[in-house]
Amino acid sequence: MKIVDNVYYVGVNDRNKTLFENQWPLPCGVSYNSYLLVDDKVALVDTVDISCCEVFFNEIEEVLAGRKIDYLIINHMEPDHSGSIGLVRQKYPDIKIVGNAKTFSMIKGYFGIEDGLLEVKDGDSLSLGSLKLSFFLTPMVHWPETMMTYDTTHQILFSGDAFGCFGALDGGVLDSTINPDRYWDEMRRYYACIVGKYGSPVQKALSKLKDVKLEYICSTHGPVWQKETAKAVALYDRWSRYVAEPGAVVVYGSMYGNTEQMAESVARGLVQGGVKNVVVYNATKTDPSFILSDVFRYSALVVGSPTYMNELFPVVESFLQKVARRDVKNRIFASFGSASWAGVSVKRISEIIDKCGWRLVGSVDNLHAATSQKKAECELLGKQIALEIQKEG
Ligand SMILES: Cc1cc2nc3c(=O)[nH]c(=O)nc-3n(C[C@H](O)[C@H](O)[C@H](O)COP(=O)(O)O)c2cc1C
Ligand SMILES: [Fe+2]
Ligand SMILES: [Fe+2]
Repeated sequence: MKIVDNVYYVGVNDRNKTLFENQWPLPCGVSYNSYLLVDDKVALVDTVDISCCEVFFNEIEEVLAGRKIDYLIINHMEPDHSGSIGLVRQKYPDIKIVGNAKTFSMIKGYFGIEDGLLEVKDGDSLSLGSLKLSFFLTPMVHWPETMMTYDTTHQILFSGDAFGCFGALDGGVLDSTINPDRYWDEMRRYYACIVGKYGSPVQKALSKLKDVKLEYICSTHGPVWQKETAKAVALYDRWSRYVAEPGAVVVYGSMYGNTEQMAESVARGLVQGGVKNVVVYNATKTDPSFILSDVFRYSALVVGSPTYMNELFPVVESFLQKVARRDVKNRIFASFGSASWAGVSVKRISEIIDKCGWRLVGSVDNLHAATSQKKAECELLGKQIALEIQKEG
């Protein structure tokens, strides 16, 4: 599929994989994007997951019609993109692999490849003929070796994981040829789960790209952004600064419904306090990736858990760790918990969330049934959180 003169999409869809990185659900699949630049010299930008290698090779051959590939540019070494490097080298033994010093130590470690390498540094360039490429090192915009490749001729940024999203490509690659609406939520879920921890490296990368004209953004997952380049960049800028919309996520675990009743009351209080965006999640039922995505979206998080074996209810604990590991900044926070003899859940929630440095509005601790009085306390907590949300505007 041609994107523009000399530039072809040779990526693949994966609608078979259930869990990305063996943990994040893929209800609409995922694409592994690769691009073939056909000029005086031919360059392949990134590869695909090894499970899709056969389809990938067929796509390449259809474009190349017997020509050889001169360069394999590696923007990122995570196996969803690097998985086919060994087979590409076998099929095209003369191919020169282009990467930075960190890329090469991984290529040696994973594939035993030590020759036919062309090392690039930040700002270096490479001419393919009419296409002139330059390289931006963007460490930790997912992994330490991550870099981006820019074609100055068509102003195309091959951005690696940045600006990518879950969701296979259903017939169209360019955003201008499809309705891209369904990809935005999947872009935030991808960001929250995969890149979300690296807000400050993303900010560094964005400032490096500040004066770079972006006619196309070709990431490694999801549509090629042409119409929506500005929106994609603006979203990454917001998320990496942890800027939120006014709203609250209420997450709870519950075995017998007491903590659940408290969650209902907190949510009612939030809405009574004027918060329109309130989402309540049962942490046992909803996959954490969807909850995390909303934590990146909204300004407040309220978490409730029963005490379980003198600790937190396991799914709530696991969810909180996912939040804390991502260093999400600047959220309004509150908690609630229930128990039968010695409640520790509210304390444990605070122990995990304290590290985030968030503003704690309050908490409600409950023993035994969620009585009307307790529910009223939870409603009041909801209203107090609403006030804090409104203060932020
Ligand atoms: C397996 C199990 C372990 C529990 N461990 C504790 C505990 O260590 N301390 C405590 O006070 N309550 C403990 N409880 C009681 C629950 O915290 C209590 O029943 C609470 O109301 C449950 O909330 P829920 O109705 O939202 O599930 C435990 C309950 C179960 C089923
Ligand atoms: Fe990655
Ligand atoms: Fe990826």
